[in-house]
Amino acid sequence: DIDQKVKALVSQMTLEEKVGQMTQISIEFLLKTENGRVVEPHQIDMDKLATCIKKYKVGSLLNVGGNAQTRENWHALIEAVQKMALQERLKIPVLYGIDAIRGNNYTLETVLFPQEIAQAASFNPEVSRKASQISAYETRASFIPWTFSPVLDLGRQPMWPRIWETFGEDPYLGTQMGLATINGFQGNELVEDKYHVAACLKHYMGYSMPLSGHDRTPAWIPEREMREYFLPQFAAAVKAGAKTVMVNSSEINGVPVHASHHILTDILKGELGFKGFAVSDWQDIQYLYLRHHVAKDDKDAIAIAINAGIDMSMVPTDYTFTEDLLQDVKEGKVSMARINDAVSRILKVKYEVDLFNNPIGNANDYPDVNSAAHNKVNYDAAAECITLLKNTNNFLPISRGKKLLVSGPTANTMRSLNGGWSRNWQGNNSDETEKDKNTILEAIQNVFGKDKVDYSEGVTFDKAINIDETVDKATRADVIVLCLGENSYTETPGNIGDLTISAPQIALATALAKTGKPIVLVLAEGRPRIISAIEPGTTAVLHTYLLGNEGGNVVADALIGKINPSGRLPYTYPRSTNSLINYYRKYTENKEASEVAGYDPQWEFGFGLSYTTFKYSNLKLSSNKLPEKGNIMVTVDVTNTGKVAGKESVLMYVSDLVASITPEFKRLRAFEKIELQPGQTKTVTFTINKEKLSFINYDLKRVTEPGEFKLAIADLSTNFQY
Ligand code: IFM
Repeated sequence: DIDQKVKALVSQMTLEEKVGQMTQISIEFLLKTENGRVVEPHQIDMDKLATCIKKYKVGSLLNVGGNAQTRENWHALIEAVQKMALQERLKIPVLYGIDAIRGNNYTLETVLFPQEIAQAASFNPEVSRKASQISAYETRASFIPWTFSPVLDLGRQPMWPRIWETFGEDPYLGTQMGLATINGFQGNELVEDKYHVAACLKHYMGYSMPLSGHDRTPAWIPEREMREYFLPQFAAAVKAGAKTVMVNSSEINGVPVHASHHILTDILKGELGFKGFAVSDWQDIQYLYLRHHVAKDDKDAIAIAINAGIDMSMVPTDYTFTEDLLQDVKEGKVSMARINDAVSRILKVKYEVDLFNNPIGNANDYPDVNSAAHNKVNYDAAAECITLLKNTNNFLPISRGKKLLVSGPTANTMRSLNGGWSRNWQGNNSDETEKDKNTILEAIQNVFGKDKVDYSEGVTFDKAINIDETVDKATRADVIVLCLGENSYTETPGNIGDLTISAPQIALATALAKTGKPIVLVLAEGRPRIISAIEPGTTAVLHTYLLGNEGGNVVADALIGKINPSGRLPYTYPRSTNSLINYYRKYTENKEASEVAGYDPQWEFGFGLSYTTFKYSNLKLSSNKLPEKGNIMVTVDVTNTGKVAGKESVLMYVSDLVASITPEFKRLRAFEKIELQPGQTKTVTFTINKEKLSFINYDLKRVTEPGEFKLAIADLSTNFQY
C-alpha cells in the first residue's frame, strides 16, 4: 500500500533529496527569457531546469509566470520537467500545483465558473461539486494534478480584497460548499485517477479577518472565536480527506501562522489528524524575517517554520530555502524525524494523485475540455447564483420590445464578471482572452435585439467620461440597465480605504436617477460595495458577484425572465462603512438593542428575491424536547404561490436563548434548495441534534447547554428544549 511504498522510498533518500522534495519553485524562474522578459509561449530553459532538478532535486513547481498558456504548451512544459525528474536516481516525479480556482484559469480555453462567493449564493452544494469536478478534469487535461483551492477562509470582513474567493460569512454554509468542492476536485477516492486533482485548503487559518481590512495585515482572533467560526470548515474538510493545506500568510494575535506550532502541529496535525502536507504561501517562510521580524535571518526563519509544522516551502524564486534547510538539519536545528515526516507526507500525495504511474498524462484522455456540456453546467451554475435584491412592484422581468439604455463601467468587460485569477493573477487580460464570451452589454444586445439597446459607458471606475450624453440617451430609453461595481483584483492590489462604491459611479447613478426613468442596477463586484446613497433611486437590483464566463448571458436571461433568480446573499450587505456586522451578531448588536447603529444592513445575509412567491406553512417538530441521543425532525411545507416556476433555498436558523457565552442572535443550522412549479408544494425535512446546538465554551470545549432554543424558517418559528 501507499504508506509502505513511501516508507521504502524515504529509506533510500539522501538528506539533499529530502530537502529538495520540500522545496517548491515557481516555473517563471525556469522559463526562457529575452531582454529580461519571459518568452511567450513559455519555454523551459533547460539549464535552469537542470539546476532545479539535478542540482537542488526540487520536488514541486507552481504557477505559470504571467499569462495563461495553451494546453499544448502546458504539455510541453510538464513533459520537459517530468522527463528530467525521471532521469534522477530515484525517479520521483515533480508535483505541479496551480491556482485553478473555479476553473483551470491558467490555461486558455477552459471553463471559468462563478467564483466561490457567487457559488455560495446558490446555497446549493451541487453547484460547487459539479464546477470543481469539471475544473479538476480541465486542470488534469493540462497534466496538472494539484489545485490551490478551495479557499475555506470565513468571508466576514467585507473590506478584505479576497472575500470573493470565500464562501461567505457563515461557517455552516462554508463547510457544506467546501465539502462539495473537495468531493468535486478529489472524487471519492483519489487513487490512480486521471480525472481528479488534489485539493488544497487555504489559507489555514484566520487569514480573512484583518482588523484593517487590508490583505496580509494582523488579525486578532481569540482562541474561542477561532474554534467557533474559523476552524470548523477546515476540520470538516480534513475529515473528508483533503490532501493538502496552504498556510495563512498573516499573523494572528501577534504570531505569524507560518511560525505557529499551535495552529499547524497541535491543532492541524494533532487534533484534526491531518495526514496530508502543509505548503507555505508565497515566500512566507522568508517573510518571517523580512516582514514579520520574528526570525533574525533566513536560516532562523526556516527552522521556525519547519519546526512549527510546514512541510513544503513555496520558495518561490531562489534556492536559499534548500541550502539553508540543509544547514539547519546539519546544525541540529531541525530534526531528521521532522524532515522524514514532511517528506513522507509529500510523497504520499504524489502516490495518491498517481504521479508515479502517470507522471505526464495523455492529451487524448480529455476530449471534453471547454465542451458545450461543460459550458452548459457553467451557465446553469451561474443561473443559480445571481441574486435579486430589489424588485419594486415586480418591475422585472422586462418584456421584449422595451428600449434599454445600458450604462456603467462593468457593462462591457469580462473583468468585472470574472474577477482575479482569470487567465492571470489580477484577471486583467481577460478582456483579451474571453473575446468569445458575452459581456453584460453583448448578452443584452443578443437577447433584446441590437436595435433596442443603446449603450453609453458614462464613467470608468475612477473618472467621469460622458455623464451628460448618457443622461440624454437615458431620456429616450424605457429602462436604464446600470452596471456598476468593481474592476478585477486579488490580494494586496485590491486593498481599499473605503467600502463605498467609487464616487464617479455614484455621480452617474445620481444623474440617471434624476431622469425619472426606471433603473435596474446590476452590481458586478467581488465584495459588497456600499450603495446606500444610490439604492433609493433604483427600481430593481441584481447582484452578480463574479459570475464567471456565463455571467453576461445569465444577467440578460434574468432581465428577460428566462432565468428566475434564486440566489441568496452569502454575506451581509452593509449599509454604512461604520457598521460592518455579520448576521450572527450578538443580541447587543441588534438594531433594537443599540442606541447607535446595530445590525441594520442594506440587505441581510440569506436575503434574495424571486419572480415568484413562496409560502411557508406547517412548521412541525417531531418533539419539543431534544433527547440526549437522537434527533428532532423538523418539517415545513413550501408552496410556490406565484405564476412561474422557481427555486427556493429553505434556510433553518436556530437561536440559543440563554448560554454561558453570550449567544448569537441566530445561526444557520441547515439549508436545502428545492424547485417548485406554480402551485406545487414540497415538504422539506431537517434534523436537529445536539451537535447542531453546540458551541465552544469559555474552556474551549464544544458543549451543548440545556435550555430553550428558538427555531426559525422564513417567517415561521417555534421553540424547543434541550
Ligand atoms: O495560492 C496562492 C495563494 O492564494 C496566494 N499566494 C500565492 C499562492 C500561489 O499562487
